[in-house]
Amino acid sequence: MKVVITKDYTEMCKLASRIFAAEITLKPDCVLGLATGSTPVGMYKELVEMYNEHRVDFSQVKTVNLDEYAGLSGDNDQSYRYFMNHNLFDHINKENTNVPNGTAADLEAECERYEQVVASMGGVDVQLLGIGNNGHIAFNEPCEEFPEKTHVVNLTQNTIEANARFFASMDDVPKKALTMGIGTIMKAKKIVLLANGAKKAQTIYDTVYGPITPKVPASILRLHPDVTIFVDEEAGALLKK
Ligand code: F6R
Repeated sequence: MKVVITKDYTEMCKLASRIFAAEITLKPDCVLGLATGSTPVGMYKELVEMYNEHRVDFSQVKTVNLDEYAGLSGDNDQSYRYFMNHNLFDHINKENTNVPNGTAADLEAECERYEQVVASMGGVDVQLLGIGNNGHIAFNEPCEEFPEKTHVVNLTQNTIEANARFFASMDDVPKKALTMGIGTIMKAKKIVLLANGAKKAQTIYDTVYGPITPKVPASILRLHPDVTIFVDEEAGALLKK
């Protein structure tokens, strides 16, 4: 695992965006695993800028997102499909984008379908991750065993509270989500995790130095052969001590 402490959020986003742009240059039909949340917004802006400057071409790229809230359709402005359209897809020449369908009649069947979609593309070339304050990656919450495949998850109170900032009230935050499993994520050839802000400092420390345990889901990334973690000074504060 490589850890890069950047000067600030802007530098973190610039460096991470270059990894994704380089992947697209080297393999124009690559599969990118994408994340939502506030952390990657700056990186998506960088990619849009590169696209506008004709430095990157998404026409053959395939994307698969990590997760989606159960019960929210793609036109709901709190859904992750809406987020991706708004922050990236509407601004680039994308063709093949995939986000789990949160309104599928049978959510378990949707998880199986999604797992097949990822497999049929030959797996993810570069996977982007954020990290929850409790160490979750995608919506794999702290638990007793690492979940393997795409599955339906009950969100923890910690995550519901953290995500409430995007909703009118806490009651509006969905309590369930569909998420890629840890096994699906670990199969990606390369993983880039981003974290910024003091709230992430402890979980970044636990991820890098703590025990590898499903109680800190991101800690398993230490077993992956190609992971780079970019943190700003605040999120990396405990690593320096
Ligand atoms: C989103 C996702 C989540 C977020 C995490 C951090 O697709 O998978 O694991 O990455 O909750 O969210 P932010 O970036 O809002 O702090």
